[in-house]
Amino acid sequence: MDAEKKKETETVTQAETEAKKDAEKTGAAVLEATGLRKTFRDFWGRPRTVAVESVSLRASPGEVVGLLGPNGSGKSTTIKMILGLLRPTAGAVRLFGLPPGAPRARARTGYLPELSNLHRFLTPRETLGYYAGLFGMPGPAARSRIAELLRRVGLDGAAADRPVGEFSKGMARRVGIAQALLNDPEFVVLDEPTSGLDPVGRREGKDLVRGLGAEGRTVLLSSHLLAEAEDVCTRVAILAGGRVRAEGRLSDLLERRDAVRFTATGLAPERAADFRAQLEAAGAAVAVDRPARTLENYFLEIVREAGAAGASAPDAGRGAGT
Ligand SMILES: Nc1ncnc2c1ncn2[C@@H]1O[C@H](COP(=O)(O)OP(=O)(O)OP(=O)(O)O)[C@@H](O)[C@H]1O
Ligand SMILES: [Mg+2]
Repeated sequence: MDAEKKKETETVTQAETEAKKDAEKTGAAVLEATGLRKTFRDFWGRPRTVAVESVSLRASPGEVVGLLGPNGSGKSTTIKMILGLLRPTAGAVRLFGLPPGAPRARARTGYLPELSNLHRFLTPRETLGYYAGLFGMPGPAARSRIAELLRRVGLDGAAADRPVGEFSKGMARRVGIAQALLNDPEFVVLDEPTSGLDPVGRREGKDLVRGLGAEGRTVLLSSHLLAEAEDVCTRVAILAGGRVRAEGRLSDLLERRDAVRFTATGLAPERAADFRAQLEAAGAAVAVDRPARTLENYFLEIVREAGAAGASAPDAGRGAGT
């Protein structure tokens, strides 16, 4: 082994040891955001829009957290603050226990922006090769990683070597997703990963995100597609007017506490009207569970309530206020 390679290996081992120490320090939270606020100022420096207000989020390893909300509710702004791309007006973010701009936090994070600008004359393979170069990945390792990622996002075959400028929106999105996964990140942030994808692509996208979670990676994704979030997220936060209006595990959020469903077996249909006391008196075994409503109904309810409380309506592109 030449001296340079040896040094590289040593640096990697050292980084891993330090990463482990970070995880121990933080009680294993990958993301910890508290009290985030973002005020955008106008040309004269006067506060103009409160885009995000009092947003706190946490994600542990293996969790797929969905950030849901209408247009202009502050999802992308929150994501950019979490990644250290925008400085919060107030509040704090820790990634792996580190400030989000720290190189050791960045090295373990992948990001798909809402709009990714790809160089139109480069092919997906060349685009990924370029970023692999920026990450300092050695050639052979980069080539096999890129081939694997192109396969994973469904861009293997001829598409891998066609200029991105010729691509449809959905195909370009796939290149962006592959790019976000290039550095084998433990924390993957996807701002509307499936926008522009057709139903087949969406399904593949869902499987991919689920797979990332199953591999123990932590995912934070924003989405407008509730069915998609419902299928892949372990936890969701619903933003409206820049604030988190509801947050928790899907099963907890969607469980209707105002309703109980009886499942009765061994009972003749005509006796069903007699209800529970009589069910048991009749010798039936009664199982009780709580029926769930759909995420879509729940989402619309939360957004409507937020609108009634003076925040932006679902179609209004306003933040928390001015
Ligand atoms: N650079 C900026 N300057 C001024 N206002 C901004 C800026 N970026 C975002 N905003 C405002 O902040 C609010 C939140 O925007 P953000 O992009 O975070 O919403 P979003 O939830 O991601 O919306 P979408 O679903 O449309 O992507 C909006 O009112 C938006 O107009
Ligand atoms: Mg956005």
